[in-house]
This record gives sequence, structure tokens and C-alpha cells, in this order.
Amino acid sequence: MGEITTLANEPPQREMPDSLMLFSFWYRALPSVQLVRNRLQKAVLLETPLVLGRDAQGRPFALHDACPHRGMPLSCGHFDGNNVECSYHGWKFEAHSGQCQLIPSLTADQKLKVDRFYAGAYACEEHDDYIWVFIPEPAPAGAGFTKAAEPPTTVPQVPKFSDKYKIAHLTADMPVTVDHGIIGLMDPAHGPFVHQAWWWRSQHSIHEKHKNFEPIPNGFRMSAHTPSSNSAPYKLLRLYADADSITTTIDFVLPNLRLETIRAGKYWFSSLTTVTPITRNQCRIDVVACWNLFRWFPFAPELLKFVFAKFVEQDRQTMEDQAEGLKHHPHLMLIDDADRPAKWYFQLKAAHLESKRTGEEMKHPMQGPVTLKWRS
Ligand code: FES
Ligand SMILES: [Fe+2]
Repeated sequence: MGEITTLANEPPQREMPDSLMLFSFWYRALPSVQLVRNRLQKAVLLETPLVLGRDAQGRPFALHDACPHRGMPLSCGHFDGNNVECSYHGWKFEAHSGQCQLIPSLTADQKLKVDRFYAGAYACEEHDDYIWVFIPEPAPAGAGFTKAAEPPTTVPQVPKFSDKYKIAHLTADMPVTVDHGIIGLMDPAHGPFVHQAWWWRSQHSIHEKHKNFEPIPNGFRMSAHTPSSNSAPYKLLRLYADADSITTTIDFVLPNLRLETIRAGKYWFSSLTTVTPITRNQCRIDVVACWNLFRWFPFAPELLKFVFAKFVEQDRQTMEDQAEGLKHHPHLMLIDDADRPAKWYFQLKAAHLESKRTGEEMKHPMQGPVTLKWRS
């Protein structure tokens, strides 16, 4: 993979994105508002059925949505604020650990140790208005659950640069594999065709761009720069912030994180977008944005949300259409330089899986900074 640092005009490569989902990472399960105290809520992450809830103190939890006794979905059961009771035979499980507390059919002289049994429990945390769940490597087929291990990493968070800020989120379901969702997100060439709007840009504003990229742990960064001048909002921002320069960085980090930070003087805007595999053919995009721009201006959050919602809807519609074409498994191509980030994504993913297989340190597919050129 030594060709990465050159800009040689290689012939287009045939690439068939696979739909391998990466385990052993934190994933966004639901927006916080969807999790109401004392009510059970279903969710699916990486084809894993989950039941989520909030305990009496408001702390979220996530359990495998199948009773370890005979497989009844625990989401059919009852939650009393501490324990989840299965609807079939009334076994009770502590909501955070999944540890069995009670088997009602046992008689007084039957000394079965119920606390040895576990419903599958997943590490679950709430950050930036979202419930995150850590999905470990799947257990070997037929294996039961035991006490869950502590996750090795912390939950990714939206970067913040002041104490006071606004926060908003958006979510959209995409009927494509997580790979198509992610490369669609990092694809610079679709902008002029998919994201047209009179207040943003027109197709005629297409022009050549040079962007600097550099390797970062588990990903790559589009380095700080002044964003393209062909969009009105950036011009407005420069005026408003009274700042000479606006810097933005966009990071992509495995498995599915896109972090964007815009800073202009004391003002900042940042977002963390994730593309989450739900099943192998379905993903969900969630954007959480934080900012201290226009904090005093009452309509700003609505305005920002409107702009974001419009973009996300354009992407969603595009991927829905694309899914039609993908049904018949066409040959696909990734071309330089516009699809180079997509190639890096596949290379990163392969390197990650290889390092897991061998136990050796991950070999980063980029050897140093690279400038990519494209028209958009
Ligand atoms: S299936 Fe859940 S208690 Fe029997
Ligand atoms: Fe897009």
C-alpha cells in the first residue's frame, strides 16, 4: 500500500465495499429523549437486538433482548426501576449487570444459585444527548452470557471550547451498508450535485480544490484551512466573528466517527457524526452539533437545524436511490483523488482487522501528509 503518498494518476480501481461490521467499539443507540424512565425501548446495533431503559435514578442500561432462559425478548417484560422481569416465567434480572435475581418456579428446598445466571448486559452511557452502547466481539455460537467486562475505550464526545454552548441533533435511517453510508459521508465530489440550494451554492460554483490530509491514530484528518469561499454562510461567519481566519478540521476515525470543528476567534462550531450499522444492509446517521455562535440569537438553533436537516435529507434520499442500483451488485470504482478518502477508509478497516488477527500493532495505511486535488 505504498502508493498512498503519490498523486500518480492510477487507473480506477474496482472496489467492492464489504459490509463487515466492526465490533468492540462504542456505538450510538438512541437519542436520549427516546429513553423514558421506567419504560423499555428496543434498539438494534450490529444485528444485535437490545432492550434499553432508564433506572429509577435516570441511569441508562442496555441488555441483550433475549431472556437467557428460553429466549423471550426481555422487551416484552416488565421493568420496575431496578430489575427487568421476563414475561414468560418471571425470571428477574438486575438491569445494569444482567445478573439473575429471582427464578419464581424454584421451591424453598431447590438450591439453584440464580446469581450465576446472566442476561447479556452491555456497557451503556449517556453523552451529548445520546445513549451509547459498547458492542463487544460476538460470543461463540451457543455460549451463554457472563458478567460483562469493562470496555477498553471511552465514549467519543463532541469537542467543546467554552462552558456555554447550544446542542442539537439529527438522525436519519439509510437503507445501505455501513460502508456505503460512511464513504457517502466523506465523499467530496457529490456536493455540487446533491447539495444544491440557492442559499448554499450552485452547480456552477464547482472549482478545483486542494486539501491537505494527514494520518491520525485510527483515521485521517483534513487539516486546518479556510473553508471554500463559494458558500455564503462562511462569508457571513467571517464577517460576524470579526476573525481574520476561520479554521476547520475534519477527522475521520474508525469505526464510524466524523468530527468537524470550525473555529473563528472566540466562536466555534463542532459536530460529531456517526454512521451506525443496524443490520448488514441498513445504517443510521446521527449528527450532534454544539456551538457558541449566535447564542443570543433566538432563531439560530432552528436555522442551523434546518440547514443540517436539509443536507442530511439530501444524503438520505440519494442513498435510498443508490440502494436500488446496489441491489443487483454492480461493479464499483473508486477513483483518485476524489475517492481517496474512501480508499483510506477501506484500508484502515482492513489494517484494523489484520492487527486484531495478528495481535500486532495496527499498520496505518498513510505514511505521511498528502495533498488531494479534486473539483467540487
Ligand atoms: S423465557 Fe424468560 S423466564 Fe423463561
Ligand atoms: Fe452529503
